[in-house]
Amino acid sequence: MTDQDFILKSYNTNIENGTVKWESPSNIALVKYWGKKAHQIPENPSISFTLSDCKTITEISFAKRDLSTSFSFEVYFEGKKNEAFKPKIQTFFERIETYMPFLRDYHFKIETSNTFPHSSGIASSASGMSAIALCLMSIERSLSEVEVTDKSFNQKASFLARLGSGSACRSIEGELVVWGKNESIPESSDLYGVKFEGDVHSNFNNFQDTILLVDKGEKQVSSTVGHQLMYGHPFAQERFKQAHENLAQLKTILASGNLDEFIKIVESEALTLHAMMMTSMPYFILMKPNTLEIINKIWSYREKTNSKVCFTLDAGANVHVLYPQKEKESVLEFIKNELIRYCQNEHYICDHIGLGANQI
Ligand code: PMV
Repeated sequence: MTDQDFILKSYNTNIENGTVKWESPSNIALVKYWGKKAHQIPENPSISFTLSDCKTITEISFAKRDLSTSFSFEVYFEGKKNEAFKPKIQTFFERIETYMPFLRDYHFKIETSNTFPHSSGIASSASGMSAIALCLMSIERSLSEVEVTDKSFNQKASFLARLGSGSACRSIEGELVVWGKNESIPESSDLYGVKFEGDVHSNFNNFQDTILLVDKGEKQVSSTVGHQLMYGHPFAQERFKQAHENLAQLKTILASGNLDEFIKIVESEALTLHAMMMTSMPYFILMKPNTLEIINKIWSYREKTNSKVCFTLDAGANVHVLYPQKEKESVLEFIKNELIRYCQNEHYICDHIGLGANQI
């Protein structure tokens, strides 16, 4: 498959208007994507848990207009007109127009909201971009002159979402999604995310993710800049190789249910991601003192209790605390007693592994 296969060849030009609506979740990577080539092609493969409750809900109304040279759209965030999101969506439209030639034929009203609080430090780009991609795919499906199977719908939605924000391509399906070509997963692709079809042990059923909001402020360095700093990074090639190996190992671990081995890969991936940031030129640190306090508390709790709780990090200071369903009560107790004091305003969000996006 190449990107050419995603070009819509012909479509019905008689559809005047319509409305589509999707909710799409966030995801948390276990093996991290950090570094990309041109056109949002990842330097290394990644795998993520799709989340369930942290999601974006987006409705797009479209109405026929006279052909014009520019795109026509307006954006509403949580009921209010939002100009700040427009440049990102403009760039997204420019990137995907080749694949969706009908984009200039319509005016789009994009209304979006998140289930998680705004400026919580949770990146909404994965859920936000995947929700828009899915809405546009529903519009494409209604204009299409040939039947669009669910498989090709999801594949193209993921392909488009990737062009909005790389990690967004892993938010279409659940419960685990792989993005980036890796030998151990034959169906994997650099172009789109694929549902992980390998065996998954019951230890991972309904796996929990409690997100500790250590810092809700804007990040000092964006992911876009962080990815760019992997060009010419002294450890880049080794890191990309390591991600391939970690993904292959994780595949075996997911099947065996060995949680000790799971913890080793997941925590090492999180710290390696931040090590790449600290060894970039210019170097930067996104963790905060409280991020480290939490990590140390998790380590000592694990030592004391033999719990299988572990942590992972995004490109920010917040900590995702991951643990099996059967430890839900005890770990939540630990979080409340020992960890929320390190969160900004004691804020945290309870989520768990989810099944992917839904049309509403
Ligand atoms: O999707 P982007 O370009 O915002 O990159 C996100 C990268 C990480 O969240 C740090 C890792 C990942 O694989 O999601």
